[in-house]
Amino acid sequence: VSIGLPQDRSKPPVVFHWFPFIGSSVQYGSDPLTFLFACQEKYGDVFTFILLGRRVTVALGAKGNNFVLGGKSTVFNAEDAYKHMTSPVFGDDVVYAVPNQQFMEQKKFIKIGLSTESFRTYVGMFEDEVETYLNNEPIFKSYQDPKGAGEWGSFDPCQVIAEITILTASRTLQGKQIRAALDKSFAELLADLDGGFTPMNFFFPNLPLEHYRRRDRAHKKISDFYIDIVKQRKAKGENHELDMINALSGQVYRSGKPMSDSEIAHCMIALLMAGQHTSASTGAWAVLRLAENPDFTEKIYQEQVKFFGAPNGQLRPMTYEEARELPLMNALIRETLRLHPPIHTIMRHVREDVPVPPSLAAPSKDGVYVVPKGDYVLASPTVSHTDPRVWRSAMKFDPYRWIDPEGMAAQALETYVDEHGEKIDYGFGAVSKGTESPYQPFGAGRHRCVGEQFAYLQVGTVLATLVKELEFRLPQPFPANNYYTMIPTPQAPRNVEYRRRRRN
Ligand code: HEM
Repeated sequence: VSIGLPQDRSKPPVVFHWFPFIGSSVQYGSDPLTFLFACQEKYGDVFTFILLGRRVTVALGAKGNNFVLGGKSTVFNAEDAYKHMTSPVFGDDVVYAVPNQQFMEQKKFIKIGLSTESFRTYVGMFEDEVETYLNNEPIFKSYQDPKGAGEWGSFDPCQVIAEITILTASRTLQGKQIRAALDKSFAELLADLDGGFTPMNFFFPNLPLEHYRRRDRAHKKISDFYIDIVKQRKAKGENHELDMINALSGQVYRSGKPMSDSEIAHCMIALLMAGQHTSASTGAWAVLRLAENPDFTEKIYQEQVKFFGAPNGQLRPMTYEEARELPLMNALIRETLRLHPPIHTIMRHVREDVPVPPSLAAPSKDGVYVVPKGDYVLASPTVSHTDPRVWRSAMKFDPYRWIDPEGMAAQALETYVDEHGEKIDYGFGAVSKGTESPYQPFGAGRHRCVGEQFAYLQVGTVLATLVKELEFRLPQPFPANNYYTMIPTPQAPRNVEYRRRRRN
């Protein structure tokens, strides 16, 4: 197709569609992965489709991931792609609302808060929140009644894990004032704010609709609430809590300007929103996998007995060092993230024409492909997560693939060197080898997730505590993905049955 570029260049193939503006929106929107796989089969790893009037150029496979996520941030730009959706929710002075340089500094400050010292104190808090939840939620009544041991009850893992996720994140990272506020109207405000975080808001960030008004009202109230906490703590000189508010208070940019109270508040909101659905979805899918595979769950339990078994037959509380070492638990999380990564597509806006390397897509007869300025580029690590050329029995849930020596060889700590030559070490939990990797549940490169270690610890401790207390079974076939939500969720029916674990 000639597009007015120099003769030896051409645009990638465009996915066939009937209607110009609608393009492939319906197919992509209802089942993005089936759509992407079908297009990959037909057009190869690089192609363009039309999404509500926008041209989206997809680059698949490990090389495609590298093309998009390893691209220069000034050329493949995240702010242009995300800020309309995120700024009304997070605030207009953090993350994608500010120049990337400034956000990278904010990310570094956040990293300081995610320290080993804090994590050591968090493990016990996670366990405590889960135990308290099991002991108090009516849905777990057959667990609560000691005579009920042996009785099966049932719960929706999405609802339960979402509640446990917000309780555990607020108790630890967010701090005790936020945890206390959750028992009040704050939870409703969060739900309103969350209502503004849907795929629709990506395309229509501001419409005169009630849910946008609720989002904006909620943002203002939550923002004021956090700013108030920051101010009060500063006034009282309180900084002994190992939470993120304290870690951010007092951080100073390279320019010499300290982080403002509003920036601290808005980073806190961004962390809350970035971590909630991602960790909750991972935990919910993992519980479904445990329920589907009782033999594996038993092995997870035996792993705990091995690590934490006390002579009285009980399990003692785990430490941070132990929690991060549990091989089967880590394999469960890795495999869950391989098959059910919460973020299935990553977008950037293209600011300059970019040639596609021939190693990613062979040039057409008109010359090398070029992604034109104005397109969006899309990487989908999820597609490479189930690429049969990379993974044996790619669609099979097989946590042991992460434990055998070959699987382990694929693991390396990822480090990323920023533009100041500073090395950011993503540390434990990281599995991919930089931007060109088939396994990237936490993204890669400059925008890589800052919360990975926290998420591993939180999800791992929550799951370990649930397995310590409960046995699971799945009363229906394993649920399919619902892609209409921002983060793929298991379609109903998706109940998990549980009973109190009998200890010897
Ligand atoms: C970015 C995944 C948990 C904070 C990302 C990205 C992915 C991701 C794929 C890259 C997005 C892109 O390149 O456009 C996940 C998964 C999680 C998780 C799978 C849990 C299982 C968390 C948690 C936090 C967090 C718990 C906070 C404590 C962030 C932030 C970014 C990010 C701030 C933006 C980074 C940037 O654009 O530079 N996450 N995340 N995430 N994540 Fe996570």
